[in-house]
Amino acid sequence: MLIAGNWKMNTDLPRGVELAKAIADGIDDADSAFDAIDFAVCPPFVHLQAVGEVLEDHPVAVGAQDVHSEDEGAYTSDVSAPMLTSVGCTHVIIGHSERRQYYGETDGEVNQKALQAHRHDLVPIICVGETIDQRRSGDAKSVVHAQLEGALDGLEVTAADDLIIAYEPVWAIGTGESATPEQAQDMHAVIREDLADRYGADVASDIELLYGGSMKPHNAADLLSQPDVTGGLIGSASLEAESFLGIAEEAAAVLEG
Ligand code: PGA
Repeated sequence: MLIAGNWKMNTDLPRGVELAKAIADGIDDADSAFDAIDFAVCPPFVHLQAVGEVLEDHPVAVGAQDVHSEDEGAYTSDVSAPMLTSVGCTHVIIGHSERRQYYGETDGEVNQKALQAHRHDLVPIICVGETIDQRRSGDAKSVVHAQLEGALDGLEVTAADDLIIAYEPVWAIGTGESATPEQAQDMHAVIREDLADRYGADVASDIELLYGGSMKPHNAADLLSQPDVTGGLIGSASLEAESFLGIAEEAAAVLEG
């Protein structure tokens, strides 16, 4: 079970460090309650090193929110995989719907970034998800299927922890209206099947499939108790340690049965 925070373009450096410290303290205070939970936080680029230092002795991976597909070059404002690994980053979100929507990121670009992440031993957290119009017209599954097909082209996955997929229906992100547990499970089962076709059932069965889109402490247990929902990619509720760890508490309770 992986509980991952996507801070997006929020927090200045002092606030980001404070948030990381509060998460670290909360995990310490919980003693062994979170032993079965994996954590990750994805702060803005400029906080990665400082947040990494705060979390160094804690079981919280640090991820970026994007990566360029080239190692270096004349790409003003972009950040490369070697830069990320040099500040201790281990994960990277790729193809978030906000990147697709505001920057026109295509499945092909998502694929290039995922391949680049692997070349540098970064675990890609690949985001997929349909818009409300696509859901209403009954195309949600084919849209997600096509996004996966594009994103995973040529991407070798031999162990389950080489890849994380986040299903984030666009209509649920930041709206307060999460998918129902059934909608999430339905789509996660489709994703799991796609991964099994591509990588074999053994590997696919252990790949983390995160749900993202208005996950909060109050709805986390229902979502996370679905068999193929093995974690959350959390936006606004990850900006307060209390709500982020509140979701982790729900996850721990689900695991305990
Ligand atoms: P949200 O964002 O939890 O604020 O809906 C999730 C995401 O976009 O990763």
